[in-house]
Amino acid sequence: MKKDTRALAARALAEIAIRGASLRDVMNRSAPQLPDPRDRALLMALLSEGARWWLRFDAAIDGLLEKPLRHKDPAVHALLVLGLVQLEVLELQDYAAVAATVEAVRALKRPQLAGLVNAVLRRWQRERVSLIARLDAQPQTRHAHPAWLASALKHDWPAQAEAVMMADNREPPLMLRVNRQRTDTASLMDALQGAGHAASRHEWLRDALSLPHSVDVTRMPGFEDGLFAVQDGAAQIAADLADLHGGMRVLDACAAPGGKACHLLERAEIDLTALEFDAGRAERIRENLMRLRLNARIVIGDAGAPAEWWNGVPFERILIDAPCSATGVLRRRPDVRLHRRESDIAAMQLQQRRILSALWPLLAPGGRLVYITCSVLRAENEAIVGELLAQQIDAQRVPFTLPVGQPAAVGWQILPGDGDLDGMYYAVLHKQA
Ligand SMILES: C[S@@+](CC[C@H](N)C(=O)[O-])C[C@H]1O[C@@H](n2cnc3c(N)ncnc32)[C@H](O)[C@@H]1O
Repeated sequence: MKKDTRALAARALAEIAIRGASLRDVMNRSAPQLPDPRDRALLMALLSEGARWWLRFDAAIDGLLEKPLRHKDPAVHALLVLGLVQLEVLELQDYAAVAATVEAVRALKRPQLAGLVNAVLRRWQRERVSLIARLDAQPQTRHAHPAWLASALKHDWPAQAEAVMMADNREPPLMLRVNRQRTDTASLMDALQGAGHAASRHEWLRDALSLPHSVDVTRMPGFEDGLFAVQDGAAQIAADLADLHGGMRVLDACAAPGGKACHLLERAEIDLTALEFDAGRAERIRENLMRLRLNARIVIGDAGAPAEWWNGVPFERILIDAPCSATGVLRRRPDVRLHRRESDIAAMQLQQRRILSALWPLLAPGGRLVYITCSVLRAENEAIVGELLAQQIDAQRVPFTLPVGQPAAVGWQILPGDGDLDGMYYAVLHKQA
């Protein structure tokens, strides 16, 4: 019997939004139950948009129910949220969205709730203008961001906070990084266009191609041959700021899954150590290196404890793509906003501070360190780099500007949506010779 995709999605979304499971894990578990790729695409759309808009429509459903269902019947609660997502975000035909949602409640083996589900969705349709006005009155429900994050954004970026939250809720383009060791942007663009993909060159990123929508890249020409990788344009700036020259000893200290490490290797003949704490994630570096036909030394170890893995020879370049809140990439990882807690930021800062101060001594005099996060919070970015500059007399900031984004107190911040890129922070430090 064919699975009801909406019922499956409702159970999966309840796992993500109520029980804290990751979207990727849930998708990997659920997708094999749907043999038809169209059903899998619908499941992905329902889970992504369901997670992205949860904080808006979860509040709406509470207002429409006399007794909350969230804990008593989480899958039915999630199904109702998905009903509103289909009406308001995916803009499915009203009749189809309501009928399919009522049908799904039967597939969830809750036929006794079919009338309730129907009544809630019909009431939403009748009263939607006033209900939407009520949701729009609060930043948390207007933009479906947790209250702590909405106020942290307002605090750190008062002029941009609204635009950031709106960008977090838009579908990002699919961006590719052309492997210049194996091809060039013009040739790959021709090949992709020839296969019917609307690939276009990026205005100012040398290795980037952009496609308007996400597609299965493994079926694109050149994927198996390692001609390209998926990487947002904001992350591709790292290779420019690293200022590489042939023969350099380079450390990528937080390397998995290897996006930036591979880009560095595509740019120059360097001796790269790719360090990663998590052995499972380090496997992803190996796979990416193999597919892209690149070589690096993969080391499993803690960037904050170099005594355990460093051979004492300094590095001329160090890249620290630090573990962070990921608040700059909410458009690509819509479940992060549901799982991240305000208290996580202090824990992240401890790691960032620890890694940066442990690795500074490993940088050769005259060398360059690039500190990166995909956070938009100043506490994880300029605050951490500012502390190092205050502590290390041989550390100097290297000033630079980028075509998009804004200067931070130290370094440069790209906010989500700036130039249609992910949010990313960069600081470049030089060690006095
Ligand atoms: C932002 S991700 C890096 C993304 C990667 N640079 C890329 O471009 O594909 C941060 C990585 O740092 C790793 N990490 C976290 N703490 C670490 C530590 N103390 N030492 C080494 N790696 C660590 C995480 O497991 C994660 O894989």
